[in-house]
Amino acid sequence: MFVEGIDIPEGREPADPTEWPYSVPAVGRLLSEPLEFRAPVTFLVGENGSGKSTLVEGIAEAYGLDARGGRAGRKYANNRPKGDLGQRLRLDLSQRAARQRQRGRRSQTGFFLRAETTFGLAEAVSGLHGYWEEDLAEHSHGEGFLIILQSMFDKPGLYLMDEPEAALSFMSCLRLVGLVHDLAESGSQIICATHSPLLAAIPGADVIEVGDHGARRVRWEKLDMVDHWRRYLSDPGTYLRHIIDS
Ligand SMILES: Nc1ncnc2c1ncn2[C@@H]1O[C@H](COP(=O)(O)OP(=O)(O)O)[C@@H](O)[C@H]1O
Ligand SMILES: [Mg+2]
Repeated sequence: MFVEGIDIPEGREPADPTEWPYSVPAVGRLLSEPLEFRAPVTFLVGENGSGKSTLVEGIAEAYGLDARGGRAGRKYANNRPKGDLGQRLRLDLSQRAARQRQRGRRSQTGFFLRAETTFGLAEAVSGLHGYWEEDLAEHSHGEGFLIILQSMFDKPGLYLMDEPEAALSFMSCLRLVGLVHDLAESGSQIICATHSPLLAAIPGADVIEVGDHGARRVRWEKLDMVDHWRRYLSDPGTYLRHIIDS
């Protein structure tokens, strides 16, 4: 483990907790209660707008990863000031992560993959030492994505991902399951926002559902998204008749 929990401690409260991002329940709750990470793989699930990206970015910034995506110990763009949440979040670091941090930023290991900005990241770091060799322009979007992940998952560290499934086919998503599983086995920690029941089914993963209630642990079988997919796949009509006039 690298980060065992997050909260916003006394003394670092925002002036106005009713303002964004503290107005998002999953973020606001951190003022009174920490969010614990208990397993090497944690998935954050929940509706659009529930605060998954906000949390993942906040953790990335507080850890020292570029909020637009990129490697630990390296920036691919000019120094951008941390967002407000990134400055206020307190990370409960494991001994290993604390030692890395003491040795300085360059010894920190990890990667933040933001689906939305991967293309920009790929352009910005193409050819830079410590990234990947392949020419991504010669691959499909999904293939390129797996190349990025495969080459970035190289050392035990903190790996943050935001909807990595976006570009992936079913089979590619299964490959990602294999990559994430191996990464966790090798001592890494993964915190990943996702809408994918396929990804969230990784054995041993902790699944935290965020929403109006704040954040709670839910077993995979009990997740709303799993239930919706099950019912949709067994009979699309039960959903579609509410959406499309026949
Ligand atoms: N820069 C911003 N300024 C104000 N509100 C924002 C900003 N970014 C996101 N939000 C709002 O914060 C909420 C959570 O967003 P986000 O974390 O992106 O949700 P998710 O990733 O779960 O879909 C949403 O209501 C969104 O509209
Ligand atoms: Mg998001």
